[in-house]
Amino acid sequence: MKTIYLLNGPNLNLLGKRQPEIYGHETLADVERDCTALAQGLGLGLVAFQSNHEGAIIDKIHEARDRAAAIVINPGAFTHTSIAILDALNAFDGAVIEVHISNVHKREEFRHHSYVSLRAEGVIAGLGTEGYKAAVRRIAQLVA
Ligand code: DQA
Repeated sequence: MKTIYLLNGPNLNLLGKRQPEIYGHETLADVERDCTALAQGLGLGLVAFQSNHEGAIIDKIHEARDRAAAIVINPGAFTHTSIAILDALNAFDGAVIEVHISNVHKREEFRHHSYVSLRAEGVIAGLGTEGYKAAVRRIAQLVA
């Protein structure tokens, strides 16, 4: 069975509690549960991981090289700063979809640039936590 790695970066462990007017009321556990069920229905496995540490996310992307067909990643603020996460994704051969819960283009200027977008097959922003499920559905098409 092909596997998706669902990776979330810093502060996304606080989903549902952190700035709900921007990020909504669903928790990361809700997102991971819904995406796991959706992936299973599409015949895919899903491994969920969140970290507040750049190196831990990079280690997980390295692990995905041998274990995953695709990565869905919300790198949080590392989106806008991390060449190291971009480099790790460039060393991964499968499909990559970048997700942002908020519409980063409607927010501060510093959120408008993404290093990860240089690698991603697709970018989803502003669909709330639905964006993760849209990404899983797209991955199912890409890896079919
Ligand atoms: C975010 C947008 C980023 O700019 C921010 O730093 C986050 C979350 C989003 O999902 O909308 O932590 O990636």
